[in-house]
Amino acid sequence: MEALTRNFFLFLSKSRFLNSMAQKRGSRLVTGKIIAGTDFQSSIPIIKQLNWNGLATTVDHLGEFVHSAKIASERTEEAIRTLNIIGKENLDSHLSVKLTSLGLDIDDDLVIENMTRILDTAEQQGIMVTIDMEDEPRCEKTLEIFKLFKQNYSCVSTVLQAYLYRSEQDLQELRPYQPFLRLVKGAYKEPPNVAYPNKKDVDDNYKKMIEQSLKEGLYIAVASHDDRMIEYTKELTKKLQIPKDQFEFQMLYGMRNKTQLQLVEQGYKVRVYVPYGRDWYGYFMRRLAERPANIAFAFKGILRD
Ligand code: FDA
Repeated sequence: MEALTRNFFLFLSKSRFLNSMAQKRGSRLVTGKIIAGTDFQSSIPIIKQLNWNGLATTVDHLGEFVHSAKIASERTEEAIRTLNIIGKENLDSHLSVKLTSLGLDIDDDLVIENMTRILDTAEQQGIMVTIDMEDEPRCEKTLEIFKLFKQNYSCVSTVLQAYLYRSEQDLQELRPYQPFLRLVKGAYKEPPNVAYPNKKDVDDNYKKMIEQSLKEGLYIAVASHDDRMIEYTKELTKKLQIPKDQFEFQMLYGMRNKTQLQLVEQGYKVRVYVPYGRDWYGYFMRRLAERPANIAFAFKGILRD
């Protein structure tokens, strides 16, 4: 039943019709709940409030799978503007980007050109840019582009997904680059020839990747709302005597708010992933696929911990 619900929401996440309806009519429902605002300027008060509460952020302009060079260029301009505002307003924030929004599906030269402009600004402002990981067919290219940039820029990081069989090997291959890595379980619908179909295997691989990265001295973000993964990380880091400045926890804006603050009180670094923009529909559907209870706060306006 759980798998059916997950597949249903992931199927709906691809609907262009529902996406355009959501953009026209639904933004009010989700603003201040799972997205910070429909543009960056209106999101700043929420980011400042999170920073004030001791939570760092990483901001994401929603929108992916872009098929026009013009839109990819607009997304690039938006990322550059955002980096400059983060710098000017002195926000404690990173930026997250999706390569498909910068032209990954259009042309390699285009995505590299756009990413170069973003990283040049990020370097000037001293802000980390994380390349989110999208679906499996784009994983290889995303990692190639990450490695290319990591040779010249220190301000770029990326994500590995524990549900993919390949991620353990990718972790080994990334080691020489000493990356800042965000580790996640994985949010897309993937077939069993590329991803573990059973949740238990995903969880086991997630733990294994946390342990391997920490033992190899990498700085990692454990990006999960799962108490079992959070406790595992706390116990493991105590056992291995890993200092609290070698890792951080990351959670999505609007999820587990109390837990985020409790971790800060316990002296852990916590970063909140703050999405903004009108194109929130695909992001929201993936959150419903992960946990249908998330629907409660969309319709009742109630945030449960
Ligand atoms: P999971 O869905 O496995 O749930 C396990 C348990 O955790 C649940 O049974 C419940 O007890 C608890 N739980 C989960 N969500 C909860 C909630 N909202 N409230 C209360 N309890 C909850 N994916 C990707 O493919 N590419 C990416 O780049 C990213 N980036 C990213 C950044 C950040 C900061 C986060 C937190 C996540 C991502 N993800 C992602 C998404 C990720 O891959 C994954 O789909 C979700 O985090 C869901 O997995 P969890 O480990 O959080 O819990």
